[in-house]
Order: sequence, then C-alpha cells, then structure tokens
Amino acid sequence: MFQDTKLLPPDPILGLSKLYQDDARSEKIDLGVGVYRDLSGATPVMKAVARAEANVMAAQKTKAYTPVDGAPGFGPAILNLVFGEDSPVLSSGRAAAVQTPGGCGALRLAGELLNSQGAESLTLGEPTWPNHIPLLSAAGLKLNSIPYYDRDANAVDFDAFKAGAAKLGPKDVLLVHGCCHNPTGADLSTAQIDEIAAMANAQGFLPLIDTAYHGFAKDLDADVYMIRKFSAALPEVLVTYSCSKNFGLYRERTGALIIIGETADSALAVKSQATSLARRNYSMPPAHGGAIVAEILSNPELTAMWKDELAEMAERVRGNRRLLAKTAQDFGLHNRLSFIAEQAGMFSLMPLNEDQIRIMREDHGVYVVGGGRINLCGVNESNVEHLIRAYKAATEA
Ligand code: LMR
Repeated sequence: MFQDTKLLPPDPILGLSKLYQDDARSEKIDLGVGVYRDLSGATPVMKAVARAEANVMAAQKTKAYTPVDGAPGFGPAILNLVFGEDSPVLSSGRAAAVQTPGGCGALRLAGELLNSQGAESLTLGEPTWPNHIPLLSAAGLKLNSIPYYDRDANAVDFDAFKAGAAKLGPKDVLLVHGCCHNPTGADLSTAQIDEIAAMANAQGFLPLIDTAYHGFAKDLDADVYMIRKFSAALPEVLVTYSCSKNFGLYRERTGALIIIGETADSALAVKSQATSLARRNYSMPPAHGGAIVAEILSNPELTAMWKDELAEMAERVRGNRRLLAKTAQDFGLHNRLSFIAEQAGMFSLMPLNEDQIRIMREDHGVYVVGGGRINLCGVNESNVEHLIRAYKAATEA
C-alpha cells in the first residue's frame, strides 16, 4: 500500500517551531507559530483557566460521552460572549453553536457543511493563514483568491478586495477574518465592514467569519463588530471561533462553529446538518476545554479574572508592536516598520523576500514564517535590537 508513498515537507508554521527548537544559538528568536508568550518567552496556563480546570475536575463524575455539539453549557456561553446577553440575534433564536476540535475543526466542519449545501466557491483574501487553503480545499470546496493586502503600502487594499468581492453571488462564500488578520495584522475598519455587509446583502453571498483572536485587537466588544454587524444586517452568516489564544487552550482543541440563520428553525436545521457531519467524522469534540470555557463564563469571579488576564496579554502584544517600531527608528530605519505599531493582534508582515527570510534564520537565528509573518509575542526588550540588526543585515545585504 505505502511502498510509493512520498515524504511530505514539514508544515510551514509548525515545522518552523521544530527548526527553532533544534537551533543551539542562545540569541535565537522565535517569531513563528501563533501562541502568546510572556516576558520570559513562556506560554503560561491562564490563572482563570487553572481555577476553572480545578473546579471542573472536582465536579466531574463521569467520562461518558458528551452530546455531539460539545460540553454542556459551552455553546450558550460562547454565544453570549460573542453577541452579548441582550442581543436580538440570541433572543430570536437565530444563532446556534457547535463545539469543535479547535478553530481548525470549526473551519473544516464549516467547509464540509458548505460543500454539502451546494456552495459553488469559497473566496479568500490574499494573503491568508496558510492552513486555510489545504484545510478548506480538503473539505471539497473550490477556492478562489482575491487581493486583500498591499505589500508596498503595508495596508489593506480595500479597493482591490471590494472589486474581487463584487463578483460573488448567492452560491458563493467569502471568508473574512473577524479581527487580528492572520498573517497581516491589517483589519478592515468598521466603515469597510459596513460596506462588505451592504455588498453581501445586495449580492447574496455568504460571509464566513474566521475569529481566532477575539480580545487581542481592541477589546472583547470591539473585536466582534464584524460578527454583530453581519448578523444584524444579513440573513445568514457562519463564524468559526477559536478559544486557543484568548483562553490559552491551544492543546485542548477548543473552538466553535457558530451558525446564524434567517430564522430559529433554519439555524436549527443547519446545526443538525453540522452535527451530523461531525458525527460522521470525529463524533464529538474533546469535552475538557469546552467545560473549562463554560465554567469561566458562568462564574462571574472567573469571568472577571479571565477578562483582566486577556486584556493584559493584548496590551503586552501592543507594547511589543510599539517597541519594535521605535527600535527600528532608533536604528535608522526611519518609518519603514512604523506600520507595525498601528496593526492588530499577534501578527504583521515584515517586508522581506524569501531569501531575506532565509538569511534572518540561517545567519541570525531569527525565525520568521514564509511570506514575512512575525508573531509580535516573540519580541521583548532584550531581543528587539538583535531582531532589528538582523532585519537590517538581511535587507541591506
Ligand atoms: C498560527 O497561525 O500560527 C496559529 O494559528 C497556529 C497554527 O495552527 O498555524
């Protein structure tokens, strides 16, 4: 069976972590995989998570199966967090949630759902998270790409994005990043989100909002502007949601597919299709992470603790953005990297070609994802000068 099976190259993001771990140089800097890191470079278990986990373990009486839509309480808790408790979308019953194995599981389930319901294409802005492409095409969807980002201007190319979206019709899906665009860090403004909502309304295409960094751009309310706006303005929306970053639950694989239907009945019907697809695949998601999120969000003390920790993490990343931009200026790069201070979330694209990315890694031990993506969490006071020197050396070589 496998005599002629070919060895595949490592994953472009996860493979970089392995290269970094194997590098013996003490001055190496990991700007690769999208995980939060504190000042010491560690990815700690959040205190609210540790407390919730202890509560969950103390209350646990069985390991029997959970329902296909996940840990009891998780779905309603995520819906309240995303829409706000007084949301008409919730009181009308138009929203339903299915817990999934991480944000990846949500995307794959969304892809299979769309495929099973006759979606003709799924359009992505370019560049996008590299795993979107294999993940969604593996679900059987035909993918198209349209421009999103202008690498010369280091900003969203909204005219080009709109021109691409203008071609979409009722059987098409447009994937948009809810906040903290991966890999560019360049988000749509609220006015631009409103324009896309109007286009979706007029043309009938379905938005799929991928939200993996809720809380890392501005705050928990501002970061879901797109979800709330689209859900109020449009009959149907899909959201893929990850709890990896904002709850620090990476390895617990906790996420959600959120379905907003035209009516409560249609939301339930679509949810039944999604749970049937899940049953045919992995049956049900791992319950542990979902139970932790449900515990945090149902306990006011833990909710407040979690919100404070999340705000602190987000502020640290914003501080790293400012530090990088300022250090670049101090080292004579003028405003070449100043756009980084204005962007949102963990990532930005450093203006680098593939050869310069290789020089950064091989000559200076600075690990940048292909295309130039850096995770700002890897920047700190003690390594930022080495990073800027490496950038100068690679780009001025
Ligand atoms: C990333 O973009 O680095 C993260 O979302 C982790 C991953 O799975 O790629």
